Amino acid sequence: MGPFVNITRRTKIVVLTGAGISAESGVPTFRDKGGIWEKYDLMSVATPQAFEGDPQLVWRFYNERRKQGKSVQPNPAHYALARFERLLPEVDFALITQNVDHLHREAGSKNVYHMHGELSKTRCTRCERVEERLDELPDLPRCSCGGLLRPHIVWFGEIPFGTDKLYQMVEECDLFLVVGTSGLVHPAAGFVIHGKRHGAVTVGVNLTPPENRLYLDYFYEGKAGEILPKLVNHWVSCLDS
Ligand code: APR
Repeated sequence: MGPFVNITRRTKIVVLTGAGISAESGVPTFRDKGGIWEKYDLMSVATPQAFEGDPQLVWRFYNERRKQGKSVQPNPAHYALARFERLLPEVDFALITQNVDHLHREAGSKNVYHMHGELSKTRCTRCERVEERLDELPDLPRCSCGGLLRPHIVWFGEIPFGTDKLYQMVEECDLFLVVGTSGLVHPAAGFVIHGKRHGAVTVGVNLTPPENRLYLDYFYEGKAGEILPKLVNHWVSCLDS
């Protein structure tokens, strides 16, 4: 599998995850064969214009994903990242995810940034209130103020949540680890380049070489659920020795 980079207690680590980390849990990815964007036209379900034109269709798509999300469990890759954060509380560790599922938190990760939003949350198009809604929702759910609710999801053409802070975290980290993302959707896809330019060692784990492979100092090709536990074991042992 090749050598693993070492870390110390002073290493600042930022991890970026994408759909590939949840694939082994049974959550479909977007751009792989059989992925979500093969079955649905993203312009019809994942843009502000789509929601304006046909909110019911958009909600049906997200309600289906919300339902499916309830039946999935974290896999060894999610648990490895959670274990890493838990065992080494003194190490500066942040987990940025493009995923809208709850699997990182369910595995026990704490310092999680959902840059593309969360399936479990809604936002009112009138009063802007964000709410955690775990109950089943109708196809046109309403807020208590009467406004139409939308999924608290970042659609194409919208700016991801907390971008300034995320760039800053990437800029300040020593090690940038990216797992299970095709490296095609910006700004997340540019974090690797940004981190590398600011001196971070960049490490990637993916089933196939991602689009931004060129900017990865170390790349491990394969399943996240098999590689990440080994990587984390190595890092934990670095600090124990
Ligand atoms: N382990 C590691 N990598 C995997 C695995 C696995 N078990 N299974 C699939 N992959 C890889 C694929 O090879 C692919 O490169 O995960 C990547 C998933 O890529 P995408 O489907 O493009 O998902 P992602 O990069 O997260 O998409 C980014 O696009 O549609 C939007 O907002 C959506 O957050 C999403 C964003």
